[in-house]
Amino acid sequence: MSSVASQQRVLSGMRPTGRLHLGHYHGVLKNWVRLQHEYECFFFVADWHALTTHYDNPAAIESATLDMVVDWLAAGVNPKSATLFVQSTMPEHAELHLLLSMMTPLGWLERVPTFKDQQEKLKEKDLATYGFLGYPLLQSADILLYRAGLVPVGADQVSHVELTREVARRFNHLYGREPGFEEAVNAAITKMGKKAAKVYLDLRKRYQETGAEDALEVAQALVRDQQNITLGDKERLLGSLEGSGKIILPEPQALLTPAAKMPGLDGQKMSKSYGNTISLREAPEDVDAKIRKMPTDPARIRRTDPGNPDVCPVWQLHEVYSDDSVKQWVQQGCRSAGIGCLECKRPVIEAINAELIPMRERGMAFEESPDLLRSILSEGAERARDVAADTLADVRQALGLAYRR
Ligand code: TRP
Ligand code: SF4
Repeated sequence: MSSVASQQRVLSGMRPTGRLHLGHYHGVLKNWVRLQHEYECFFFVADWHALTTHYDNPAAIESATLDMVVDWLAAGVNPKSATLFVQSTMPEHAELHLLLSMMTPLGWLERVPTFKDQQEKLKEKDLATYGFLGYPLLQSADILLYRAGLVPVGADQVSHVELTREVARRFNHLYGREPGFEEAVNAAITKMGKKAAKVYLDLRKRYQETGAEDALEVAQALVRDQQNITLGDKERLLGSLEGSGKIILPEPQALLTPAAKMPGLDGQKMSKSYGNTISLREAPEDVDAKIRKMPTDPARIRRTDPGNPDVCPVWQLHEVYSDDSVKQWVQQGCRSAGIGCLECKRPVIEAINAELIPMRERGMAFEESPDLLRSILSEGAERARDVAADTLADVRQALGLAYRR
């Protein structure tokens, strides 16, 4: 598969954290479910990444992996639309990581902000390891192996996609020159036809002489729109614009996942470490009990005391789940002591259960059938391997390592 055809390929990974909760759903998974209909998607469990920080307790990683995939499926990620797999079942990621490590300057990795941040945050662990330094480069390998165009990530991961772009650029610069590249480019230009060829040459000249980004963009669009030339020729034409040679590993783009506004049971952000979560497989009666126990406006001691939704965590859930008329009912009823807090919580309980019940059912089917789960993951790995093998073949070729066929 070529860089041109993979523009629309999406790839993302998640470290195995075990069961997921509503925060993950509203933050990441809902987004994945939408993307799977719009793009060719690859979603995988980054279990090697988990090992960089949890090498002292690897046993927990396997069950966390399977639990997490069940929740993906429960949330509506569909293995018929998206390719799902586990990173460690794909040694191709390790091979590309190794090869990229040869040409990645140490300073690039030491300067990735998460390197020092995480070492500070996880002080109790020794993260002065080779593997941890390589964390973002392993992520680059994950992305580049599929020549993904778009990488949905949270803000904390944007620097890793940025590094990936630099690594790809360096790789293409170092190895993107096939023998006879200039001749091949000239032949491809001729194949575009006289008119398009002239436009291409003018734009290329303008970009290379002045660095005008608009000239580059127009020229790239022109190349992509060509109907009668091969993908290989398109890549050469694109490579020649930037003077880099052939693009073996295209630069991906981060697709920023908007920060989830999902509040937890205490009004803080929902997070496992705060113990304020509702899991995706929570039983309806447990949802009921958890919400009933939620703290409300502390000034509302008696039913007859008026309250203030602005200081109440339940109101934050109404903001996520309720329509305008319910929200108005809450505002009015709370401030006038017209409704009680349990009454106010009722529509939230119902909305959350309406969202979770179908997920729980879907999840149950996979929980009860580990074989089904394993076959989804092995079929996913097989599909992933087809794409990965193509990329690795090109990479080995570029590095003079094509002994293996
Ligand atoms: N580092 C990512 C995280 O912690 C997970 C991840 C690993 C990833 N490889 C990836 C995300 C490749 C996107 C693409 O969230
Ligand atoms: Fe919170 Fe609703 Fe009670 Fe007001 S009525 S304090 S918004 S739970």
